[in-house]
Amino acid sequence: MTAATPPAHAHSEAVAIAAERRWVYVVGAIIALLILMMVVTGLHWASMPPSRVETVDVKTLHLKGEFVENNLGTTLGTDGKVTVRLIAQQYAFMPQCIVVPAEMPVTFRGTATDAIHGFVVGTTNANTMLIPGFVATFTTTFKKTGEQLMPCHEYCGTGHEAMWAKVQVLPPQEFLARARSGERLSCVAS
Ligand code: CUA
Repeated sequence: MTAATPPAHAHSEAVAIAAERRWVYVVGAIIALLILMMVVTGLHWASMPPSRVETVDVKTLHLKGEFVENNLGTTLGTDGKVTVRLIAQQYAFMPQCIVVPAEMPVTFRGTATDAIHGFVVGTTNANTMLIPGFVATFTTTFKKTGEQLMPCHEYCGTGHEAMWAKVQVLPPQEFLARARSGERLSCVAS
């Protein structure tokens, strides 16, 4: 080899440039990965209803499983948990009146049979969409006793305006006393 070795400073410059270029690629790859993650998770969540994703077959909803008619309404489980199951369909909720206790966590599980419905309970934070094929579920605690209106809040057709149910929030002692006497709780006549 006759070629002279390049001067030391030229060599270290080449090393620095190579290192810088390598880091440009590494940082570029990290940024690209983060953007890709944002896009993928964004699309993934956008394609799902807002609540936890649990599916149910609309065709057999009335015939078997959790949402058959005699399983709708409020139950107090052996573990002390209060669960409300309901169905929305044009243009009513089943059941039409729901009994819940105040000051106790209440889990709602609901779905729709025909169109997208939704509900909000009075001025509380109980608020969800009901989408055919999906089970919407959330847990809330009602602070005040009394009767609340529960209107459908997703436009679901010509009868949308008239679609609503009632929610009776009972003092916890009264609720527990009534819950022991029967499996499903029905509203107090008022
Ligand atoms: Cu159901 Cu609007």
